[in-house]
Amino acid sequence: MSAVIKFEDYSWKYSRTKVPALHDVNLEIEEGAIVGVIGPNTSGKTTLAYSINGLIPNQYYGVRSGHVYVMGKEVKEYKQSELCQKVGLVFSDPEAQFTAMTVEDEVVFGMENLGLSIEEIKRRLEWVVPLTDIEPLMDKPPYEVSGGQKQRVALASVLAMQPPIMVLDEPTSMLDPVGRKRVFDVLGRLKQEYKSTIIVVEHSLEHLVPLSDHMVLVYNGQVLLADETTPFFEKMDFLMEHDVFPPGVMEFFFRLRLLGHYPDSLPLPKTLEEGTERLREMLAGGKDGR
Ligand SMILES: Nc1ncnc2c1ncn2[C@@H]1O[C@H](COP(=O)(O)OP(=O)(O)OP(=O)(O)O)[C@@H](O)[C@H]1O
Ligand SMILES: [Mg+2]
Repeated sequence: MSAVIKFEDYSWKYSRTKVPALHDVNLEIEEGAIVGVIGPNTSGKTTLAYSINGLIPNQYYGVRSGHVYVMGKEVKEYKQSELCQKVGLVFSDPEAQFTAMTVEDEVVFGMENLGLSIEEIKRRLEWVVPLTDIEPLMDKPPYEVSGGQKQRVALASVLAMQPPIMVLDEPTSMLDPVGRKRVFDVLGRLKQEYKSTIIVVEHSLEHLVPLSDHMVLVYNGQVLLADETTPFFEKMDFLMEHDVFPPGVMEFFFRLRLLGHYPDSLPLPKTLEEGTERLREMLAGGKDGR
């Protein structure tokens, strides 16, 4: 697979700050992958996201060095209108991106800007509205729906433009557990139906880990670890030293392994369902039991 996004020795320092928000970043993101980006507060995750969609350097003052390539071309070489079609960004505060008076207009707005025909807009609405579960909201003002609904409207508006790369910056940070689950349900369906590259910045690993093909740890402005999800979490000690709290089920099996009750050869389970199944096999004295 080829890299659809590539950071090469990339650093960015916001003006009037002393320390770079990102420094010496080297990272490749494969086409079609779902990538989970994690790291503590102020580590540089949003800066990484903005460096992909061109908000940095176009909308922020600062000093940059190195390179960021999106689909083979440097971000700074793109016209913003051209880059918007390649990279769709969903903000953690969805209201920041609303412009229309109804949810329907909000979702249609971006497609009209792309100059799509009425038939194509209808066709995409028929796809994106059930996918993001926003049918009952179409006539409402986007500001007047719940936090979780706003997030799904924001997602629908970006998705309707069908960008080959989507970046979601903490899409569930303002949501309760039910709202969070519904957004991740949508992302799960998206993974099945829409083969784009999706980068999700998120603190809630419980939902993020089962979804992600790759994981990236940003820490103190650096990418400290980037790998496929399973080998990434094999470095459990390293992750915990850097304030990563893996899903409970992974940590449980990691501890079982330390005690010699879980084989090194088996991957740590990503979901409770997987963990339960492993445990059932082990208790039944199956081939992997001890
Ligand atoms: N507009 C700005 N001007 C100056 N410094 C900024 C600006 N935006 C972010 N920073 C600084 O850059 C660093 C990285 O911030 P960033 O928002 O990328 O972190 P983050 O990992 O997204 O954090 P969070 O988890 O809180 O969203 C921080 O030290 C932050 O204070
Ligand atoms: Mg952030």
